[in-house]
Amino acid sequence: MSYLSMSDAIADLRDRREQSLRPGSERSIAKQHARGKMTARERVELLLDEGSFMEVGQLRRAIARTDDPNERRPFGDGVITGRGTIEGRPVCVFSQDYTVFGGSVGEVYAQKMVAIMELAAKTGCPIIGLADSGGARIQEGILALSNYAKVGVLNVNLSGVVPQISVIMGTCAGGAVYSPALTDFTFMVNGTSHMFVTGPEVVQEVTGQATTMEELGGASVNAEVGNCHLVEEDDASALAAVRELFSYLPLNNVDEPPRHAPDPYIDEIDDRALELDQIVPTEANKAYDVVEVIERVVDEDSFFQLHERWAKTIVIGFARIDGRSVGIIANQPSHNAGVMTYDSTEKAARFLRTCDAYNVPIVTFADVPGYMPGLEQERGGVIRRGAKLFYAYIEAKVPTVTVYLRKAYGGAFATMGCKQGDNDVNLAWPQGEIAVMGAPAAVKILHGQQLMKIIQEGGDVKAEYDRLIEEYKAEHLTPYPAAEHGWVDRVIAPHETRREIARGLRLMDGRRKDAPLRAHGNIPL
Ligand code: HXC
Repeated sequence: MSYLSMSDAIADLRDRREQSLRPGSERSIAKQHARGKMTARERVELLLDEGSFMEVGQLRRAIARTDDPNERRPFGDGVITGRGTIEGRPVCVFSQDYTVFGGSVGEVYAQKMVAIMELAAKTGCPIIGLADSGGARIQEGILALSNYAKVGVLNVNLSGVVPQISVIMGTCAGGAVYSPALTDFTFMVNGTSHMFVTGPEVVQEVTGQATTMEELGGASVNAEVGNCHLVEEDDASALAAVRELFSYLPLNNVDEPPRHAPDPYIDEIDDRALELDQIVPTEANKAYDVVEVIERVVDEDSFFQLHERWAKTIVIGFARIDGRSVGIIANQPSHNAGVMTYDSTEKAARFLRTCDAYNVPIVTFADVPGYMPGLEQERGGVIRRGAKLFYAYIEAKVPTVTVYLRKAYGGAFATMGCKQGDNDVNLAWPQGEIAVMGAPAAVKILHGQQLMKIIQEGGDVKAEYDRLIEEYKAEHLTPYPAAEHGWVDRVIAPHETRREIARGLRLMDGRRKDAPLRAHGNIPL
């Protein structure tokens, strides 16, 4: 038996490493670039801090299936896995390589994904998956499928333990969509990424409907139905967005989100704060854009909106206030008056649960006329689906601050972080209207018969109607009854909002998730 010299052994190692860095053909790499997509390795390098990537499983390859010595078994098996840092904080990553068997998931490939997710769990750091794959590798059959299914097991076991972020940067089809769907955040790239359960050919075959990849599963479609949180125009901006998202998140469920420098001027009222006094019309039915309010309350340029194109009557996203990460949930009066729907409540509930899992306090801006009435909503399950938000607020263990900007009527009041639901701090602007319903509807129900009688008798019904409206407004459409009962902690001027939220968050520092265990109370014996 002959041995390689050490220099030959090192040369052989170098050769293997070289091959592992370029497992795809020049043709497939060129094809990838021509589509405006980066390669899997380029993506990892751009995502992570320079030089921080530590690859694992670099020399793993598929088990030979034939006796053919030329059987294609590229190093890495089509997925790059490892750990690196973003702004110095650790993350685990897998990046699917479309230039190798179309990024399809084989046995070894799936094992590598599972291994990197297990490393994320052991070391308590987030897992970021860059998806670009033709799904389960057809030629590996059940071995591909069974190992792939294990990825879903890891997604579920890691849920609520470490943040999981998926970026769809190419195809993600069939059962493969369910792994990203189980993660906390899904981003897509416009034009080059597609996500669908059944591709256009099969749709045509089964239903006779002619459709395209874009129409079926393009980024816009997925953004509009809530399957993806954010759409970016190219790979580079999608990866930059992941870095930004990560800046709001802790490493895991027992870590705190990173604290940026507190604002030394937080107690001062500046011009930006004063602009808040002008944005929200006092008339309850006039529209305005709540993002204008959010942007004047949070730390400058810190609002990172998610699900912007889905369920537009509610706005969600991360931001910072006084340097702290917060999750924002706000009714959007510029869209259908900010009414609650089955979609908007699911959108907010899911986000609230995500924040609660990862120790991000919730700041709610309420200005809501109630739940959308009508057949479509009732038949769409608004009772069951709408209840999710009520549940999520009541179960939340992170600090919660709600600001009533204007109206909060009926069931929508209860489901937007009310004090009775164990919300921590409730603030109201002076025009806050916390009531069962608005004045016209209330007057009609309470005094309909009386008004009808005036009409029948030829009296001045308008004068009486106006008087009743004013009476109702004075009695119910102000924040002061709620303040008197303690359901609102403070009534504040709009320009005081940023300062008061910051104080509310400070007040709740150290909020305990569960009642502390004790041997017994200390009875005065
Ligand atoms: C093996 C695959 C593959 C797959 C693509 N390739 N998908 N190889 N298994 N699933 C290979 C092709 O053979 C080709 O290899 C290269 O990738 C590029 O594929 P093209 O078809 O030339 O590229 P394109 O025109 O861009 O089309 C991409 C595509 C299409 C839309 C992804 O390839 C496709 O429809 N693939 C099958 C998708 C699918 O139905 N997957 C199964 C989903 S079910 P060469 O060598 O020619 O470059 C699933 C179950 C998961 O994944 C279960 C989880 C529990």
